[in-house]
Amino acid sequence: MSQSTADEKILSFDIGGSRIKAILLDSEGNALIEYQRTDTPAPSTPQNVMRAVLNLSQRFPGYTRVSVGFPGYVKRGIVHTAPNLGTGYWKGINLRDELATLLGKPVRVVNDADLQGLGIAKGQGLEMVVTLGTGFGTALLMDGILLPHLELAHHPFTKDREYDEYIGNRGFIEVGAEKWNRRLQKVLNTLNTVFNYDHLYISGGNAKKINFALSSNISLATNLDGIRGGAKLWSHDHYNV
Ligand code: BGC
Repeated sequence: MSQSTADEKILSFDIGGSRIKAILLDSEGNALIEYQRTDTPAPSTPQNVMRAVLNLSQRFPGYTRVSVGFPGYVKRGIVHTAPNLGTGYWKGINLRDELATLLGKPVRVVNDADLQGLGIAKGQGLEMVVTLGTGFGTALLMDGILLPHLELAHHPFTKDREYDEYIGNRGFIEVGAEKWNRRLQKVLNTLNTVFNYDHLYISGGNAKKINFALSSNISLATNLDGIRGGAKLWSHDHYNV
């Protein structure tokens, strides 16, 4: 499937550990039908999640293409990991092809943080996007071009905890807002030293729990900004990554 043309209507999904969100976009990423959400079903099997996606799609008539941000490592439509949904259910599922059959439209699937990165980054230098939700999503972009598949979530941050456990929602619930904020400050200092980004954006549901001042090269972004990345996914053929 080739590049997006001006009259495409792109239905963009963000599949999260607790909610599935969708919006209808034009090819520039402007909202045609506002953002809607549904709970992520439990257990989060492919069958249950795809049924929820189908139900949500019915609120957005007229879409011509579909973009999906998925919370795991996905390569060319095939899921390799789904840490917060259950890798055991998902490994090897060709989500792109199964959804294309179910929805009857061309589909592209990328990692959820990569999709958010495409929506949020300004295309200026080395930009990093992190998402504070159920898990810890990470994306890197150079001049707006996505460098896909960064899974910092599973790099150990302490002796016994990966970023996902340390700073993800499980960490938040475990230690509470004050300590989680101190943890996040440590993580941000480390990211700054390791990545030397020009700008870092923080989105995801827990971004609003941040209680300290951010340095001038860090800003907050919203899930709504991020899900607009579904339009960019169709702007280059190489985004079928
Ligand atoms: C997954 C990432 C995902 C992040 C946020 C992590 O557990 O490994 O792929 O981007 O959660 O959903």
